[in-house]
Parts: sequence; structure tokens; C-alpha cells
Amino acid sequence: MKYNYGYFKESADYILSKIDFKPEIALILGSSLGTLSEEIENPVVIEYKDIPNFLMTTVESHAGKLILGELGGKKIVCMSGRFHYYEGYDFEQLVTPIRVFHLLGVEAVILTNAAGAVNTSYSPGEIMIIKDHIKLTGASPVRGLNITEFGPRFFDMSKAYTEEYRQLAKKVARDLGVKINEGVYFYCSGPQFESPAEIRAIRILGGDAVGMSTVTETITAAHCGMKVLGLSLITNMAAGILDQPLTTEEVDETAKEAANDFKVLMREIIKQM
Ligand code: 6GU
Repeated sequence: MKYNYGYFKESADYILSKIDFKPEIALILGSSLGTLSEEIENPVVIEYKDIPNFLMTTVESHAGKLILGELGGKKIVCMSGRFHYYEGYDFEQLVTPIRVFHLLGVEAVILTNAAGAVNTSYSPGEIMIIKDHIKLTGASPVRGLNITEFGPRFFDMSKAYTEEYRQLAKKVARDLGVKINEGVYFYCSGPQFESPAEIRAIRILGGDAVGMSTVTETITAAHCGMKVLGLSLITNMAAGILDQPLTTEEVDETAKEAANDFKVLMREIIKQM
């Protein structure tokens, strides 16, 4: 059995050997949102490729490094660049970062992503707090022999996105005068964007935003009892809503434009967590 407890512990022990503190919060930054990592104070930077048993990112707009240090007065570990199913990993491999963070002593994760709006009342540049998700395709990241050190075989998902953090994000956004939505993130494995018919179906099923990440991480975090805050930056309207094709340029452009507001919000949320 390759993915046993010791497999993840080896990664964690390597990271712990490079730092003299315990991170409290893990931050996973989505496409083009990675610049927040530049604001981490007293950073210790570890390349993914140097961490035993870790994965390597293959997406150009995602850097491949862990940054450990301080942000908003909290000790954090930040992933600039995450792993997605569409890169060719198995769902089972995608548990790695969250499990390793758990073994570092992290108790809360903030998951960010760029997402397309399915809800037509949303606009590009706005933020959506994830209150729940839908993943109907593909395997669970925690399938296979259960590792009881992480959590039980069967586990609850009804409070996966921590209520307390959602309330905090709303309050901080209100204080900063930033418009914020709260909705359901619909997972699609990608890498193709969805078809217009798929987006209509997703809307009927209850999705407000659609994206290719985050959900595998939330499931892994729920399994090992970690708290989660999920934030989507709406970078574009999903397929078929506007009469124009979707492009990665549009996604990256909106992410860059909104990055500043997003960073201010994130830093304040972390400070108040
Ligand atoms: Cl429209 N779909 C998916 N799957 N991911 C996205 C997106 C759309 N827009 C940004 N990321």
C-alpha cells in the first residue's frame, strides 16, 4: 500500500525540519491569485520538488512552492500553485497537500479559486463564499483503504465549510465595503470549460459557480476534521450566458484586476480568524 500514514508523514517531517514554528492556517491560492504569497513575512520557501512524496504542479500560471511564514499576524503555510485532477493525477493523489498540512499541525484551511458564474446575478470580479459544493463526477479522493489516523471510513459533509468562517468573511467584506456572494460551488474535472448545456444543467442542480479545484481538498479536510473557508473569485460568466467564447486570458485578466481587493480581504480575514 503506497499511500499509507508514513507516506504523508515523510513529507511533513521534511517540511518541519525546515521551520522552527508550527503553522496554524494553510492557504491554497488559486489561478493568478498567487501574488498574496509575496506578502508573507519571514518566508521560508520550499519547492514542491524537494519535498519527499509531494506532487508537482504542471500548470503555467501556478507556481510550485510552499511558503511558510506570517500573514495577518498568523503562522501560515501557503501553497502557491495547487494540484488538479485534469493534470493527470488520480483523485487519490489529490489528498496529499491537506494531509501533509494536517500533520504539520494546521487546523484551518483557506481554499481559493477562480470560478465561472453560473448564477446570472453574479458579475466578474465579485467574490463568492462557498457554502456548499456539488461533485457528481469521478472518484472520491479518500477512496481506498481508510487511514484511520486521518479519520473514519464514513464521515459527515454537512458542515464542511465552517459556518463561523463564512460569517467572518461576510463581516470582513461588509467592513471593507467589498461585495460578497454566498453560494454553491459545482466541481467539474476539466480541463475543458463546460458546454452551455452543461451550465444550464448545473444551474438546475443548484450550482452558483463552477470550477476545477477546491472540492477534493475540502473532502480531505472534512475527513481529518479540519475547518475550511472556501472563496471563489468570479472571473467570468460560465459558457452560454454571454454570447462570447471563454478564454483563459479573460480568467487571468479578471483575476489580476481583482487581486488587490482579494488580497486585502484575505489578509483581514486571516487576522481575525
Ligand atoms: Cl466557466 N468553468 C470552470 N470549470 N472553471 C472555471 C471557469 C469555468 N471559469 C474560471 N474557472
